[in-house]
Amino acid sequence: MQMETIIQQRKLDADVLQQLLLHDQWDTILQQTADKVRRLVYGDAVYIRGLIEYTNICKNDCYYCGIRCGNKRAIRYRLDKEEILSCCKEGYALGFRTFVLQGGEDPVSTDAWICSVVSAIRERFPDCAVTLSIGEKKKESYQAYYRAGAVRYLLRHETANPAHYRHLHPASMSLENRKRCLYDLKEIGYQVGSGFMVGSPGQTVSNLLEDLQFLQELQPDMIGIGPYIAQKDTPFAGCPNGSLQMTLRLLSILRLLFPYALIPATTALGTIHPKGRELGLQAGANVVMPNLSPVRVRALYTLYDDKICTGEEAAQCRHCLEQRVRAAGYRIVTDIGNVKREK
Ligand code: SAM
Ligand code: FES
Repeated sequence: MQMETIIQQRKLDADVLQQLLLHDQWDTILQQTADKVRRLVYGDAVYIRGLIEYTNICKNDCYYCGIRCGNKRAIRYRLDKEEILSCCKEGYALGFRTFVLQGGEDPVSTDAWICSVVSAIRERFPDCAVTLSIGEKKKESYQAYYRAGAVRYLLRHETANPAHYRHLHPASMSLENRKRCLYDLKEIGYQVGSGFMVGSPGQTVSNLLEDLQFLQELQPDMIGIGPYIAQKDTPFAGCPNGSLQMTLRLLSILRLLFPYALIPATTALGTIHPKGRELGLQAGANVVMPNLSPVRVRALYTLYDDKICTGEEAAQCRHCLEQRVRAAGYRIVTDIGNVKREK
C-alpha cells in the first residue's frame, strides 16, 4: 500500500526504482499510474514517425548488432537520394510529418551528402521534421546537419556503465565519446533522443539504475528503449532476448520520470510479442515508428533475428498500426508532433 502511494506520488528514488525493477507485484499500479500521467500530458495521442533505414553499411562492430562491419554474411545496401525522397513522398501521402533517417555509420555517406538529403527533404516537405539517427559524429558534422534543417537526433547511449559498455563494444568505441556526442547535440539545439536495450548481454539491474540516472542527467526529449534481440551472425548469437515484462516495466518508469518525453513503442517490442507495441503504448509509450523503407531492402536491415514488418508496403504498415493503436485505446495523430515541455 505504501509503495502504491509512492508510485502515485512519483517519488522514485534509487531504492524504489530497484524494488520496481526486481519485483512484479507493482506492475499493475505502475502501468496504471504511467498511463494516467501520459494522458494528463499527451491525452490519447500517439505520434507517428516514418522510419527510413537508408544504409546498412557500418564501420562499427557493436557485438550485438546484425549489421556490424564484422558480419560478413550481411548483404549491404545504401539508398540514393532519389530513393529516400520517394520514401518521403509516399510517407507524406500517408500522413507522416516526421521522417527519421537511420543507418549504420556508412563512410561513403559524407556530411555533404547527408546535408544535401536533409535540405532536399526540407525543401520538398517544408511542414515536416527530419530526424537523424546516424551514430557518432564530430560536433562540426552535427552542426552542419542542423544548419541543413535536421532538428531531432536519436542516439541511444546503450549502457551508462563503462564496463558493460566495454562488454558490448570493441575497444575502438567508448562510452565517453557516446556521451560527448549527446551533449554536443543538446548544445547545438537538437531535440535529442537517447536510450538503451533492455536485457542486453551482461546487463544487471544495477546497470539499469545507472541508465535511468544517466537519462535524468541528460534530460532527453525522446527516450527509445526496446528489448535486446539476438542476431545469429553476432558474437552474442544464442544469448537470451530481453523480456517483455522488464521492457514494459521500464517504459512505465520512464513515463513517470519523464512525463513530457516522446517514447516509442519499438519494432523490437513488437518482435518479441505479437501485441508488444500495443502493450508498450499502454505502459506509457506515445510514439510509433512504422517503416517507410522500400520493401526490397527491409529484410537486409537485420539488427536482430525475426524482425517484423519486413514484407509489408508502407501503406499496409500505416493501416495496420492505425488499427493496433486504436485497439490499444489511443489515437494516431499526424501532425509534426513536437515534444511538449514543462511550463
Ligand atoms: N548507427 C546508429 C547508432 O549507432 O545510433 C543508428 C543505427 S543502430 C542499428 C540503432 C539501434 O539499434 C542501436 O542504438 C541499438 O540500441 C539497436 N540495436 C542494435 N542491435 C540490436 C539488437 N540485437 N537488438 C535490439 N536492438 C538492437
Ligand atoms: Fe553500426 Fe549497428 S554496428 S549500426
